[in-house]
Amino acid sequence: MDILKIKGGKPLEGKVKAAGAKNAITKLLVASLLSDKKAVFHNVPDIAEVDVTVELCREIGSHVQWNRAEGILEIVTKDLKTSYVPQRFSGSNRIPILMIGSLLGRTDEDIIVPTAGGCKIGKRPVDFHLSALEKLGAQIEYREMKKEGAYFARAHHGLKGAIIDLPFPSVGATENTLLAAVHAKGKTVIRNAAIEPEIMDLILFLQKLGVRIGIEADRTIHVYQAQQFYEVEHIVITDRIEAASLALAGISTKGRVFVESTQHLPMISFLNKLHEVNAGFEVKKEGIEFFYKGPLRGGIHVETDVHPGFMTDWQQPFVVLLTQANGASVVHETVYENRFGYTETLKLMGADIEPFTQCLGNKPCRFASHNFLHSIVIKGATPLMSKDIVIPDLRAGFAYVLAALLAPDISHISGLHFLDRGYEHLVEKLSLLGADITRVSSSNKSDTPLHPLLDALVGATTNRK
Ligand code: EPZ
Repeated sequence: MDILKIKGGKPLEGKVKAAGAKNAITKLLVASLLSDKKAVFHNVPDIAEVDVTVELCREIGSHVQWNRAEGILEIVTKDLKTSYVPQRFSGSNRIPILMIGSLLGRTDEDIIVPTAGGCKIGKRPVDFHLSALEKLGAQIEYREMKKEGAYFARAHHGLKGAIIDLPFPSVGATENTLLAAVHAKGKTVIRNAAIEPEIMDLILFLQKLGVRIGIEADRTIHVYQAQQFYEVEHIVITDRIEAASLALAGISTKGRVFVESTQHLPMISFLNKLHEVNAGFEVKKEGIEFFYKGPLRGGIHVETDVHPGFMTDWQQPFVVLLTQANGASVVHETVYENRFGYTETLKLMGADIEPFTQCLGNKPCRFASHNFLHSIVIKGATPLMSKDIVIPDLRAGFAYVLAALLAPDISHISGLHFLDRGYEHLVEKLSLLGADITRVSSSNKSDTPLHPLLDALVGATTNRK
C-alpha cells in the first residue's frame, strides 16, 4: 500500500508525453478476441488497467507479448481455452462484460462473466448492453454464484443482425453491440450510438480486421458480418483524459506544460472552456502547450455530455481549476448521477462548493426529476490547504493530486491503485515538470511521517481488500 507525498505551491513547467488511451486499448484487446489473427498495438500505456485486461485475455487463451518500454503489445488467440471469466475479475474494471460481445460468435459454450466493476460513480447498470445483445440473438441469464452473481450468455442459434436503438449513447453498450455485430448474420444497425474518439479507434481497428462498418451523421452505425479476418497493426489514440489532466496541472499551478502527442480534434470542447476561463494554449505540430496567462476568470458554465461534449472524465480536475478562478462557476453533470462525492474533500481543503439536485443547465439530463446531487456551484478563487486524502475513484484521484499540488504544505494521498489503473508513470511525469512529489511505501514509515488518521485509513482499506 503506497502513498503519495506531495508538497504543493510550485508552478509546473516543462514537457511530458501523454500515453495511449486506457479506454481505447482495453477495448481493442477484447476486440482482438473476435478472430484468431494476430494484432499488434503500438502506443500501449503502461498502466494497471492494461495488466488486468491482458491477464483476462490470457485466461481466455490469448498469447500476449508486451514490450512495456516500447509500448508495443502483440496478441493472438488461436483457440479459446475457456469462455469462463473467473470471479476474481469481478469489480476489477468494465471489461469482463465486453467479453460477451467478443466471444459470442466464437464459441458454442456458455460465456460466463462476473458482474461489471469499475469506479463507483453511480449505479452503472448494464441493461443497455444486455438488451442489445439479446436483440442480436443472445440468451443471457443472471445467476447467483458462490460469492456474487455472474452473467451466462450463449447464442445457440447464432447471432443475427438487427436494429438496435440505444436509450442513451452508452460507450460500453455501443462497444459490446459493435463486437457482437461482427459475427452477426447480415447487417446490424446501432442507432443513438456513442461516437467517442475511443469508439472511433475501435471502429478503425475493426475495419482493418476485415469488418465493413460505417457511421452516419446522426450517430447511426452500420456493421456487416465479417467474412474474413486479417492481421492488424494499430496505433492506439492518445489518452485525452490524461492530456487534459496534465494540462490542468500546468495551468492551475500558474505554469506552462507542453503535452506532447495531444491531438487537437478530441480536445475541442475542453479547449473552448480554457478560452472561457482565460487559460492559454497553443496547438503545435507535436502536441499542445498549456499555460497560465493571468488571473483565471470564473463565472463560467460547464455541462458534461457525451461526445463531442465536455467529457465527464475532465470534470474533476476542471473543478479544481475553477476553485482558482475568480467568480462563481456552475458544473452540471449529465452523464453520471453521482460524480461529485469527491468535492466534499475539496471543501475540507478550502474550496467553496455547493451541490444541487436540480439541473443547473439546459442540456437534456436523465437526472432532472431525481434526487441526485448532480450540479455544483464553485465560488473562487479560494486557496487550498494540504490534507491527508484517500482516493475514492480514478478521476477524483487526479483531482486530489492537483489540489495537493496547489496547496503549499505536504499532503499524503493513499488509494493509489485507482491512479495506477489509468495514469502512466504519474509520479515520474509530474516530477519531470518540477512537482515535489514522491511515492513511498506505507510500511516504510521512516520515509514519511504519516498522519495517524491516514495510517488507520490505510489499514482499513488494506483489510477490505
Ligand atoms: C466509459 O464507461 C468509460 N470507461 C468511462 O471512463 C467514461 O466516464 C464513460 O464511458 C463515459 O464517457 C471505460 O471506457 C472503461 P457508459 P462506460 O456506458 O462504458 C448509464 C474512467 O475514469 N448506462 O457510457 O461504463 C451509466 O450508468 C471511466 O476512465 C446505463 O444506464 O460508460 C452512465 O450513467 C469512468 N445502462 C451512462 O449510461 C447501461 O447499460 C454512461 O455510461 C450502460 C450505461
